[in-house]
Amino acid sequence: MTDTLKNITPVFDKMLNRSDKEKLLSQRSICIWFTGLSGSGKSTLAIEFEKELHNRGFLAKLIDGDNVRTGINKNLGFSEEDRNENIRRIAEINKLFIENGTITINSFVSPTNNLRELVKEIVGPSDYYLVYVNASLNVCEQRDVKGLYAKARKGEISDFTGISAPFDEPKNIFLEINTSESDIKTCVNILLSKFLPIIELQKENEKL
Ligand code: ADX
Repeated sequence: MTDTLKNITPVFDKMLNRSDKEKLLSQRSICIWFTGLSGSGKSTLAIEFEKELHNRGFLAKLIDGDNVRTGINKNLGFSEEDRNENIRRIAEINKLFIENGTITINSFVSPTNNLRELVKEIVGPSDYYLVYVNASLNVCEQRDVKGLYAKARKGEISDFTGISAPFDEPKNIFLEINTSESDIKTCVNILLSKFLPIIELQKENEKL
């Protein structure tokens, strides 16, 4: 233990706990983690999914790679080390939201199985649900919504996932959604049908 840690006294036991928050919100807080290539549709899907949960009375927080990288993680790039730190911080942030009873929806490329396992380890395996938002590299490159694939092909961006940096086929997934085979509405409906039974917590008085 470092000297600094010796002088820190956590107050976790005195604070309201997660189940107090979950009961208040009538929901189970979990971490829903979207992995997939840039342009696979993660963010589009996450935005619509969060809205649908909201309309049904669930409190969720969408955490998106592109946003986080302009804020808390703006000092990080795309080397293996920086991606690791990017994902580690986000996983820790997930823990705070989950402790607060909030469902998290995460949209991160998280390109390797090591990174995905890191999230699982930090968040805890029973709260972690990995969703593979799948569209082939070909499809993502044709979409090229942000024009990044074209730049990466010209060598203007280094370490670009799928072109000059790896993307591992995700293992141990809870769900795979193929965005080139189904439209957004269908994909969101699949997500709802899988996740509603997990996040619904009956209100105390409804159980009686
Ligand atoms: S991760 O690999 O660390 O999980 P993250 O999801 O935060 O990546 O950020 C990916 C987003 O950053 C992509 O959607 C893309 O818009 C942008 N980006 C910029 N440079 C790169 C790069 N070299 N590789 C992948 N994405 C990049």
